[in-house]
Amino acid sequence: MDFLVLLVHGSLLWAVIYAILCCIAVILFWELFSPLHAFPGPPAARFTNIWRAMVTASGHVDQANIKWHRTYGSAVRVGPNTISINDPELIRTIYATKNPWPKSDMYRTNDVLINGVRLSNLFNTQDNHWHDTYMNPIRSLWTMTKVLDMESLIDETLNKFTAKMDVKFADVEHNCMMDEWLGYFAWDVMANISFGKHYGFIDEERDVENLIADSTKGLYYFAPISQIPWLDCLLDKNLIKRIGPKPTLTGVNYAIDVVTTYHQALGSGSGRVEHYLDKYVKLKEAHPKIMDDNQVVNYLMLNILAGGDTTSSTMRAVVYYLSKNTSAYQKLISELDAANFSLPAKWRDIRKLTYLDAVVQEALRINPGIAMILERVVPQSGFTLPDGRFIPGGTAIGINPAVTNRNVDVFGQDADHFNPDRWLKKDEENEEEFRDRCRKMKDVASFVFGGGNRVCMGRNLAILEIYKLFATLYSLFDIKLVNNDHSWKYHNAWFVYQYNIPMTVSRRVKT
Ligand code: HEM
Ligand SMILES: *[C@@H]1O[C@H](CO)[C@@H](O)[C@H](O)[C@H]1NC(C)=O
Ligand SMILES: *[C@@H]1O[C@H](CO)[C@@H](O)[C@H](O)[C@H]1NC(C)=O
Ligand SMILES: *[C@@H]1O[C@H](CO)[C@@H](O)[C@H](O)[C@H]1NC(C)=O
Repeated sequence: MDFLVLLVHGSLLWAVIYAILCCIAVILFWELFSPLHAFPGPPAARFTNIWRAMVTASGHVDQANIKWHRTYGSAVRVGPNTISINDPELIRTIYATKNPWPKSDMYRTNDVLINGVRLSNLFNTQDNHWHDTYMNPIRSLWTMTKVLDMESLIDETLNKFTAKMDVKFADVEHNCMMDEWLGYFAWDVMANISFGKHYGFIDEERDVENLIADSTKGLYYFAPISQIPWLDCLLDKNLIKRIGPKPTLTGVNYAIDVVTTYHQALGSGSGRVEHYLDKYVKLKEAHPKIMDDNQVVNYLMLNILAGGDTTSSTMRAVVYYLSKNTSAYQKLISELDAANFSLPAKWRDIRKLTYLDAVVQEALRINPGIAMILERVVPQSGFTLPDGRFIPGGTAIGINPAVTNRNVDVFGQDADHFNPDRWLKKDEENEEEFRDRCRKMKDVASFVFGGGNRVCMGRNLAILEIYKLFATLYSLFDIKLVNNDHSWKYHNAWFVYQYNIPMTVSRRVKT
């Protein structure tokens, strides 16, 4: 009897060992004959995506990605079937406007499962035709001219925000957790321009209904799991028991509630500024074939999920880096004071301020709000890199803006440093040299908003909001880290979440 048990267990053990050995052999064989075999990269990445997912889960994949390129060159194999690129010349190829390469499977993780049905959205869809059909009606609503219709709404939120800065911090000398407050501001601005209400974060001085926290959890899931897309089918998208936070569901549900309430209140009131929900509902008349309430929800959800974290990430970079660099800080203040505009700052008064622009460009560059590889799929015919290496069709390929933004060929040896002055004309440069250098930098740095047909829809709004906020804030307040040696923490989960930024806010004595 004992002998029999031993025999069965023994052979089971051998069967398992045998199976594992077979797997290893297959993986080795597969890697040896992989068409990507010649591409250098971290050793573990040749065999599995699990490794990259783990680096991503650590929250600093941007730093790792920069290091890989400095070690392995401009094309790095970061997964068995994935290539990361650090070549600014290729931005326009991989992210084209005409015949664009589709988004890779990583984006499927961002789908939402409602009643067993998988729903994509305009941001994550892999179907560029579907994307065009639904993006075309709203694209024209997001030009700078159109976004400027919202300026008075931003002013309203800005006044609320500066009033809080006054009573909560400047008057009483309490430290301000600036990371949280900038989040409240960016999210409340989005709510107001999107559907005419605030979430109430600024008013209530907290993350009402844990909206920000829940959305963050979704991204903490998305970032690592998207590196192994099939894993999502076992976790969030399996039909038996869903595991983990539900990416985008918070946003979808919130948007559904908002649209329902809107219809109950019978739509737009007269006399007030038209917000985006008003505009989207109106589209039903012009595009009856494709527009219904589901589509309105789909549009609105984009505002809710894409507009808050990205913009506040950039805002945190501005306050943090400026506080660390007295010279840049002083130059900005001098420029603002000399411009003598009324508050809250109006776009027409501040749009031409060169140092403000330099600071914002530099914050976006050094700290892109989205800092992972924006993966696309190489078309069937394959693609030959400028250096002659061939990448077969079906390979996932992409650029991480955090990588190209620190490319020393474009930005110089101090590419890792926050230096707004790089955007100004140098003494030894003539006008033409300056213009060329600047254009080269802008072409690369503007990729923080993505590119081609999938370029960020909200970039004008983001710029408007950020300019207005800082022209106003720095005119009113001195904003400094409590302890200047303090370093922030951050977790890159697709969106870059910086935290632990205690600052002092004091009223400026104007001279
Ligand atoms: C500084 C702030 C922002 C940054 C850095 C940023 C960055 C990006 C990037 C990199 C993409 C492309 C993603 C990809 O290719 O996978 C993107 C797309 C998008 N962004 Fe933004 N974004 C910002 C603000 C906003 C705002 C305020 C909105 C809200 C209206 C918004 C809405 C969108 C949408 C809807 C897309 C998808 C566009 C498409 O696929 O056609 N973004 N953004
Ligand atoms: C936000 O926007 C609407 C205009 O659409 C306005 O009527 C509303 O009162 C605004 N403010 C707040 C705090 O929600
Ligand atoms: C601070 O910014 C200035 C530009 O105003 C730049 O020249 C300098 O290198 C920066 N300092 C540090 C420590 O990064
Ligand atoms: C600033 O603007 C105000 C009103 O717009 C004006 O009265 C004042 O003279 C200006 N000051 C300077 C220094 O330009």
